[in-house]
Amino acid sequence: PAPLDVVLRVNGAEHRLALDARTTLLDALREHLHLTGSKKGCGLGQCGACTVLMDGKRVKSCLNLAALVEGREITTIEGLAQGDQLHPLQAAFIERDAFQCGYCTSGQIMAGVACINEGHANSPEEIREWMSGNLCRCGAYDHIVAAIRDAAA
Ligand code: FES
Repeated sequence: PAPLDVVLRVNGAEHRLALDARTTLLDALREHLHLTGSKKGCGLGQCGACTVLMDGKRVKSCLNLAALVEGREITTIEGLAQGDQLHPLQAAFIERDAFQCGYCTSGQIMAGVACINEGHANSPEEIREWMSGNLCRCGAYDHIVAAIRDAAA
């Protein structure tokens, strides 16, 4: 089948792409826009490594078809900092050593930003519940929760 003409809005810019209808948002970001901060862990919606924001809400980009998110405002880890100024949660991740291998980190940060913005960072328990869809095989969970608490304060 002929590729679809898809316009994606990512980090404030519009991109016109020719995509196979089955292309996920994650693959469009990584392979077509070369925004490789979002990671593919499972590709099945189970690990959270691919988490981005869509109209400010967290989504797993491996579960969304790119052609179906036309017109939505997508924010990836590459779009969080303002120039040289890190987002407060990015700074808190560094301060709190909230990663080891780093593979899950961009997904953790995007989910954490949504946690803070949507008012779910009021206690460690609430943060853990919110973040339960984002797995970290290094087990940095305590540090991740601490970073989110710091950035929310
Ligand atoms: Fe999307 Fe694992 S790669 S949830």
